[in-house]
Amino acid sequence: MAMAPATLVPHTCDLAEPTQVDWVSPVLGTAPRLPEQVDGWWLEGCLGQGSTATVHLARKGRKLAVVKVMRVNASSHSGAAIRHEARWLRKHGVAGCPEVVARGELADGRPWFVMTMAPGSSFSTWWARCHPLPVKAVVQAVAQAARIAGAAHRKGWIHRDLKPSNLAIGPDGRVTVLDWGLVRPIQRDGQTQLAIAGTPGFMPPELLRGIVPAYTPDVDTFALGCTLAVLLSRSPVAVGALRPSLVRRILAEAGLTGIAASTLHHIICRAISISPAERWEDGDTLAAELEDWVSLMADAATEAPAPHATLARRSRTAS
Ligand SMILES: Nc1ncnc2c1ncn2[C@@H]1O[C@H](COP(=O)(O)OP(=O)(O)O)[C@@H](O)[C@H]1O
Ligand SMILES: [Mg+2]
Repeated sequence: MAMAPATLVPHTCDLAEPTQVDWVSPVLGTAPRLPEQVDGWWLEGCLGQGSTATVHLARKGRKLAVVKVMRVNASSHSGAAIRHEARWLRKHGVAGCPEVVARGELADGRPWFVMTMAPGSSFSTWWARCHPLPVKAVVQAVAQAARIAGAAHRKGWIHRDLKPSNLAIGPDGRVTVLDWGLVRPIQRDGQTQLAIAGTPGFMPPELLRGIVPAYTPDVDTFALGCTLAVLLSRSPVAVGALRPSLVRRILAEAGLTGIAASTLHHIICRAISISPAERWEDGDTLAAELEDWVSLMADAATEAPAPHATLARRSRTAS
């Protein structure tokens, strides 16, 4: 094992602070058996690890990047997902995705790729370290994630694994959507060939029941609705248990009242609707709703006369 010992960098909850890489210590003893470098990139601290891959900070001269490597003993599906992710990012990646700098295979055949580093930390770390999070910052962050997903949707792709650990927020509030290993073409024809995949809790109920008449962007807007509720909550939420009443409680505990609460409640509940037809149809549609909510909230805060009338109008047109 050749990783340099990681220095734990303190996380900042102030997004205006300069960039900090948010990493975990390398897990000594799990024997990742990594080389010291790939393609001239020196592997350093471990940024994260999922079931498929370990993700490391990498350094080449003064340049910093991130290397994703298939885990030892991970299934062959994992290797395929990493190869697919690297190819997809190269060919179809949209603004707000990492860019692939290099890719290859270790001597034992495990695939790796080097990508640009998303500044800041994942949404899950942001919540874990800083909750309760400021509502406006959360809504803006999820709106950005929805715009990035929307750009992929416009090109005919769905991410299928949107969730807090696959989204990163930088110190300037800029969002990056990570982990595109499950991205697949949208299938609308009722004869989808796609195997069901994703993270339970962030997947809509029809997928959990194994029913896939189509695989459309509303699976991503569903996941982003869950993500929004989770980030706004003051305590850990059983994501699969999200219902309108729980969402109402989360928003109340976040300090939202009146039309601000009811409009956001409507946006989230429509995103996580049981019926696919009622969900926001794609990332752009959801992003527009969230962006409107943010600007109307700002208007409500700055324009004394009758902000409620504007918001009430918005609420009616949204339903
Ligand atoms: N480009 C990146 N920049 C910064 N951190 C990253 C990057 N890619 C992944 N990470 C970190 O590594 C973690 C695991 O990466 P991910 O691609 O989600 O792997 P997995 O497929 O195993 O879930 C993420 O949650 C994030 O914290
Ligand atoms: Mg992941």
